[in-house]
Amino acid sequence: MADEPLRHELYTHGHAPAVVRQHAQRTADEAAEFLLPHLRPDMRLLDVGCGPGSITRGLAERLTAGQVVGLDLSRETLEGARRDALARGLHNLRYEEGSVYELPFADGAFDVAYAHQVLQHLRERDLALREMLRVVRPGGGVAVREVDWSTVAYWPRDPWIDRFVETHLRTWYRNGGEPQMGRHLRALFNGAGVASLQVTASVWCYATREDTVEWGESYADRLLTSPMGERPIEYGYASRSEIESMAAALRAWGSHPDAFWVFTHVQALGWKAR
Ligand SMILES: C[S@@+](CC[C@H](N)C(=O)[O-])C[C@H]1O[C@@H](n2cnc3c(N)ncnc32)[C@H](O)[C@@H]1O
Repeated sequence: MADEPLRHELYTHGHAPAVVRQHAQRTADEAAEFLLPHLRPDMRLLDVGCGPGSITRGLAERLTAGQVVGLDLSRETLEGARRDALARGLHNLRYEEGSVYELPFADGAFDVAYAHQVLQHLRERDLALREMLRVVRPGGGVAVREVDWSTVAYWPRDPWIDRFVETHLRTWYRNGGEPQMGRHLRALFNGAGVASLQVTASVWCYATREDTVEWGESYADRLLTSPMGERPIEYGYASRSEIESMAAALRAWGSHPDAFWVFTHVQALGWKAR
């Protein structure tokens, strides 16, 4: 269809309920911590690839005299985000369908453009960053946070979980994304020619029963109900019964009393020349 948002790749996670449900637990406090000290209440902020909007909403709650726009290419996910904003009476927040590759906004329309866990799913990361910089005013900021999946460390080891990580990364690359995006952010921003840049890192660490059960169950559900499990089968990387074994291992790991999982996320905050 001519009016479909532009894509150059397949989105590895897809928009199955198991995926969107987990994304909807994210908060601005955690996911945008590196950006929050730089925000003023009257700013105009764009959240690119906003998904179900739980982070976007937290940003709108801070920019009380400003404007927040969440943009995503999933119409269905945006409908849920719009209902949520309406129910909370957030009049400074709106959602638009579109692609980061051709943002439907004028040059300099925002003070800040933000993206959380989005560039890792794109084939043309430099194009996306250039678009984000284009819609930011001179002196404005672009804030990006991305995982580096090759930093995963977990315990207790299970050969099916090792196999899951290997298969997941292989599939992700075949889809066109970059699961090690975090380590590339400094180079990406330097390549885009920002005037100044701050790169920092943080971790997601699961070390309570509640957190490990949620993580294990969520990835098991994703494997069984979303493209995360379907595409490896289609690509010939795993059989259905192997996907089921990975899912069972993730569930069992999650309820193990010693279960522990950690991986690194990298944050880049770049400022456009005045
Ligand atoms: C991993 S989710 C992150 C969602 C949200 N930022 C968060 O952290 O909870 C990635 C999001 O990027 C969106 N996305 C993927 N490709 C996109 C594109 N070309 N333009 C805009 N959004 C895109 C997906 O639809 C999905 O909602």
